[in-house]
Amino acid sequence: MNEENKDLLWHEVDNYLESQCIQEPDCITAAYKASGAANLPEIAVSPLQGQFLAQLIAISASKNILELGTLGGYSALWMAQSLPSDGQIVTLEHNPVCAGVARANFAHAGYDQQITLRYGEAMDSLKALIGEKGEPFDFVFLDANKAEYPEYLRWILKLTKKGSIIIADNIVRDGDVVQKDGDDHRIHGIREFIKAVSDNPKLQASALQTVGTKGYDGFMLIRRIG
Ligand code: DHB
Ligand code: MG
Repeated sequence: MNEENKDLLWHEVDNYLESQCIQEPDCITAAYKASGAANLPEIAVSPLQGQFLAQLIAISASKNILELGTLGGYSALWMAQSLPSDGQIVTLEHNPVCAGVARANFAHAGYDQQITLRYGEAMDSLKALIGEKGEPFDFVFLDANKAEYPEYLRWILKLTKKGSIIIADNIVRDGDVVQKDGDDHRIHGIREFIKAVSDNPKLQASALQTVGTKGYDGFMLIRRIG
């Protein structure tokens, strides 16, 4: 099968699985539509991936969640579906347009108390969070600037504890993670991130390659065991 047909088939299968597995809450569909209307890039997680994140949060009984890369708030709203009433999500976004759309989406969905968006460079927000000495995060969804993943990881390790879970999005990038040489900073960042995870005895990692409406990519699941 050629590449184009494969891509069509991935979409068809994803649409089928989505139709069988997902009943997207209206407020999440509204956030998706508002993001499209504001011309945000179409790089949010898929509905199946959103529900997958929510399931991981439910399974791990996570309460304090950190997201790097809010975009329009689509993934945060999915994750919020598994939040207990005393849980919270802190989500970091550096793009002012995205931040505005996401804040409106959280308010419209009734989650503006439980989801806090921090606008600014993720690195600055991470440093500020460390200064505030809040509870460690038990679940982190890393989905921001790929070139900065290794640096983000260093700060995430200061904001989590033994038992915390980190999910990193986009670690395959159409297979580029093993294919291209050096000049794409994003691929460089992903490779350096994977090496840092692998070199750290406190981290246990697995990874799943994914295909579907988001093309060919992958998640890394990292568990802090120390
Ligand atoms: C891009 C970023 C993402 O987080 C994603 O899931 C897909 C694509 C991008 O920057 O191209
Ligand atoms: Mg992503």
